[in-house]
Amino acid sequence: MTRFGHFDDQAREYVISQPDTPLPWINYLGSEDYFGIISNTAGGYSFYRDARLRRLTRYRYNNAPLDVGGRYLYLRDRANGEVWSPSWQPVGGELADYRCRHGLGYTVIGGRRAGIEAETLYVVPLGETLEIWRTRVTNHRSTPAELSLFSAVEFCLWDAWDDATNFQRNYSIGEVEVEDGVIYHKTEYRERRNHFAYFACSAELAGFDTRRDAFLGPHRGWDRPLAVESGRSGDSIAHGWAPCGSHHVELALRPGETREVVFVLGYAENPVEAKFDPPGSQTIDKRLVRPVIDRYRRTDEVDAAVRRLRHYWDGLLDTLHVTTPSEHVDRMVNTWNAYQCMVTFNLSRSASLFESGIGRGMGFRDSTQDLLGFVHMVPERARARILDVAATQFPTGGAYHQYQPLTKTGNDAIGSGFNDDPLWLVLAVAAYVKETGDVDILDERVPYDNEPGSESPLDDHLRRSLRYTLDRLGPHGLPLIGRADWNDCLNLNCFSETPGESFQTTENREGGVAESVFIGGLFTLASGELAALADRRGRHDEAESWRDAGREMAAAVRAHGWDGAWFRRAYDYAGEVIGSAENEEGRIFVEPQGMCVLAGIGLDDGRAEVALSSVAAHLATPHGIVLQQPAYGRYHVELGEISSYPPGYKENAGIFCHTNPWIIIAETLVGNGDRALDYHLRINPSAREEISDQHRCEPYVYAQMIAGKDAPTHGEAKNSWLTGTAAWSLVAVSQWILGIRPDHDGLRVDPCLPADWEGFTAGRRFRGADYRITVRAPRGTQGRVSHLLVDGRRVEGNLIPPAPQGATVTVDAVIDGSP
Ligand code: GLC
Ligand code: GLC
Repeated sequence: MTRFGHFDDQAREYVISQPDTPLPWINYLGSEDYFGIISNTAGGYSFYRDARLRRLTRYRYNNAPLDVGGRYLYLRDRANGEVWSPSWQPVGGELADYRCRHGLGYTVIGGRRAGIEAETLYVVPLGETLEIWRTRVTNHRSTPAELSLFSAVEFCLWDAWDDATNFQRNYSIGEVEVEDGVIYHKTEYRERRNHFAYFACSAELAGFDTRRDAFLGPHRGWDRPLAVESGRSGDSIAHGWAPCGSHHVELALRPGETREVVFVLGYAENPVEAKFDPPGSQTIDKRLVRPVIDRYRRTDEVDAAVRRLRHYWDGLLDTLHVTTPSEHVDRMVNTWNAYQCMVTFNLSRSASLFESGIGRGMGFRDSTQDLLGFVHMVPERARARILDVAATQFPTGGAYHQYQPLTKTGNDAIGSGFNDDPLWLVLAVAAYVKETGDVDILDERVPYDNEPGSESPLDDHLRRSLRYTLDRLGPHGLPLIGRADWNDCLNLNCFSETPGESFQTTENREGGVAESVFIGGLFTLASGELAALADRRGRHDEAESWRDAGREMAAAVRAHGWDGAWFRRAYDYAGEVIGSAENEEGRIFVEPQGMCVLAGIGLDDGRAEVALSSVAAHLATPHGIVLQQPAYGRYHVELGEISSYPPGYKENAGIFCHTNPWIIIAETLVGNGDRALDYHLRINPSAREEISDQHRCEPYVYAQMIAGKDAPTHGEAKNSWLTGTAAWSLVAVSQWILGIRPDHDGLRVDPCLPADWEGFTAGRRFRGADYRITVRAPRGTQGRVSHLLVDGRRVEGNLIPPAPQGATVTVDAVIDGSP
């Protein structure tokens, strides 16, 4: 049992006290346009909006060692030539008192060597397209210290994909300017780009370098730059090859003295017609950027930027705050899970330690589910996201599987035909309207496939989402699966035998038979949500017809999707069942158990409980619930990518954490608070902190996957940060276990607690009012709330009547002893 740090709940930081964590443990800088990832030893990179197309600095994925490329600093003691990095890497070696504090949108890394302490704050100010590194160097010796401080970044030539492949061109195009000690990276600025990067320093320079080979020296890496070792910068100017940025600052510190040096790395754009100064020259016009650089080199501005960022996060996190008997629940709900939801909202699946920033764009189903986790914090941005996503829908109701964040248009290479996609839009809009009451969003006119002239109200998009399913039913009256449903790796209409082919988009079978029970459940859930929205608009006939469609679908699921002890998963191309006791492998899958119960199927006839008992018996492990059992032991060409993974990994019986919250919610629906919380704590990263050496990923964020029981590495997490697990975990814990759930008519307090909890308190901002909620539960029971005391007045049931804007409302919820 090993930990590498601890939570500082007060400061909302994770404090890492050992630099050699099992994997780089990262954090994110930036909230709007400029972003970066930063590891606990200062590795990582930065980009403007799009991690592929506007990459500022280089990072070497899949390198050995793993974390190469970063925001590097070096200290050199001029007395003896000793060299170290205050963030441990890239030099490595001895560093006393190492600590890394990952906070909300900032990271602080520091350590001490030979009586010299150095600590660097890395932060992106709100509203700016730049990052600040503020370094404080203190001399704790009894004698004066003569030091050199070097900075270093390696510039990426903007398109990260091209940068990593097109060397015949790229070795010849790198260009920089250096003016007043500021290094400007301007590759391709002369021709079709109007943007450039800059790297500035607050102190007077003893020198600089912009040529990587001059800074590092031949045959050397970032751990041993020649300029640092020799204590002399070359004032080199890059022409082609690899442009870098390095400042050299000389520090003479008296005993006890501290000096602050600020570095500013940023992105800037000039108007296309005003790129050069003087006009007609090839020199960057710096008149717009100079004031920004000057401002953020000042330490009072850095402090102000940090204060603004804290204030911003306090405001966001004030929306929901809970105090429960579990510190793991509290710190995830109050801080880290909410933070992770914001990061997934901002970056979708683009840039992490496991997502290289050059892969996929925004997923239709990913973004619509991510929204469930942050809509309460930033409803305006959720609204904009809904309209963007809906605009990539086709007139058929189908959807582009992915779209590009820069252009907001659909990705033709992947196309459409993931038949669950459109349904998630309905859930997202329903969640948005429940949170905000803004039912008018349904009247917003949104185009199809971004085609001007095709605009129709958002509610028309939602109707077409459901129609899309109804227009594509298979032989059992269940939805056709298309290329895949939520499980991207269940590819029932693509029989791939060629290495490298896409399992999802290779077309070699006519789809017309393969059906998904999971989509059946999802449709049932979505039709109920759309019916409720129609009711809000007084369209009761329409609402009734959606309810009928939902009932019919539920009937088909009961008739053909029930296996006797659990819900089946699908029918394949040949009409054979998947996820049934009849199968040898893949007999039971988690997804339909979760989704069908969420949709209410089986709640009235006992099947929900039976299905959930089967999950407990066959799928639950101490590290979470695996996706299916038994794992596929060989490749099944008729099932697709799912069986391509070795047993226990990813969709082949890994603990695909995204699905666990569905089971947790389902357990609350059948009243089993003990199991719901137990399952939650198995994947809750804070609760797994004690086994960090086994879990390996960050203990402050959820991971997409934990290796399942069939894997030799059972319990090891992968793909941390950018996962639908974030949104669904927050929903499952806050809305279903704690039961604080927005609904159309107000806020509900409907907890389903474990028997040994005596209650909890919560603060929730909802539609402009603040609710202070206290839930009291008699110990040893798992009952439900029977009535509320709202500002002392008794209200039957669990719905708080809406309060006026600005009101503070005290709510006492009393849980009945009887279950
Ligand atoms: C990945 C995808 C998500 C999919 C899941 C299961 O997380 O981003 O869209 O549902 O895998 O295959
Ligand atoms: C692969 C992954 C899956 C992911 C998909 C996205 O299939 O296994 O998790 O959702 O790629 O395209």
